[in-house]
Amino acid sequence: MRQPILMIPGPTNLDRSVLEALALPAIGHTSGEFYDEFGELLALAASAFMAKKEQMVVITGSGTFGMESGIATFLGNGKKVLAIVNGFFGERFAQIAEIYGSKVRRLTVGDGRSAGEDELARALSEDDYEAVLMVHSETSNGVLNDVSALARVAKEKGVYTFVDAVSSLGGVKLDFGSGLYDFVFASSQKCLAAPPGAALIAISDELRSVIRSGTVRSYYFDLGRWVDIMKDPKIYLTTPAIPNFRALRVALKNLVNEGVERRWERHSMLGRTAWRFSDDTGIRLLARDRSPTVSAFYVGKGAPAIKERILKDRNILVATGIGGERDSVIRIGHLGLTDKRLMDETLAAFSEALRSVAGSSP
Ligand SMILES: Cc1ncc(COP(=O)(O)O)c(C=O)c1O
Repeated sequence: MRQPILMIPGPTNLDRSVLEALALPAIGHTSGEFYDEFGELLALAASAFMAKKEQMVVITGSGTFGMESGIATFLGNGKKVLAIVNGFFGERFAQIAEIYGSKVRRLTVGDGRSAGEDELARALSEDDYEAVLMVHSETSNGVLNDVSALARVAKEKGVYTFVDAVSSLGGVKLDFGSGLYDFVFASSQKCLAAPPGAALIAISDELRSVIRSGTVRSYYFDLGRWVDIMKDPKIYLTTPAIPNFRALRVALKNLVNEGVERRWERHSMLGRTAWRFSDDTGIRLLARDRSPTVSAFYVGKGAPAIKERILKDRNILVATGIGGERDSVIRIGHLGLTDKRLMDETLAAFSEALRSVAGSSP
């Protein structure tokens, strides 16, 4: 069967070197070979976050592991949390905080906008918050929150900043070394161009110092258990997804070889290509403050048929909207390994499909 080219917002197409790492013979998780590779993986992950190796945690799981472990470890049990909600994943972050007993207030931001510094400052001054939650690149609608500006506001108020960087890390500037952030998580299957299966987390020294292992009402999500394993992966906690970690290590090497800044710039170019396409065709983007890694186009209706048409004609897979927007939105993920040629081909296929699918006019 012909494999489609992935232009969904993750998982992404994989480089041959990454596929080869997935196909290596099995090794044990307590072997010297895995131990060495894991150490290297942490150092490479730190480069992608611009963090220190000692601040990194990499665990078998998906992006949601990062989200839930951060809440479970630091923010449950009545802690006051301000959640910026610009879309589906911001809402998920808030919901998980509620499940763990945080007192959550939502700062809901509509119209495809990033939260503003003033509105965040105002909201934070209304109560004594422990943390603010925000999504860097809101994959459901392509909104980009200006996380460095927002984190600066939170820092001034002495509030921890938790950032979901699942569809931004590696694709949009995020400098953990700036000291603005306390908890940032990403996953392997987006801009890092590795297979799904690993959550990558950076924890600030200040936040790490409040970890009290064993006080959390979860086993797997208690990061206190995991930080020791990062120092010595020979200690058994759970069995890691070894092939995924080996593939992630190669994907991160590829990222470092490309250059972190250069990868941001490539994504920025892809974003500009999508925005120019929207200007030229009049197909509206849901986002006003736009992520360079994912674009959500409003097509009115018939999105599933448009998606099928693109797949049939060009063997390219795009995504429809999430939840209530399934029928009216096409989402294109321009992340990971995507280059200008594939981006242009995808956008050409999209406008052809729009024209050919009866009844869908934006
Ligand atoms: C912004 C964002 N946050 C969280 C998630 C959840 O990640 P996962 O599906 O890897 O659990 C996603 C997944 O697409 C995402 O895009």
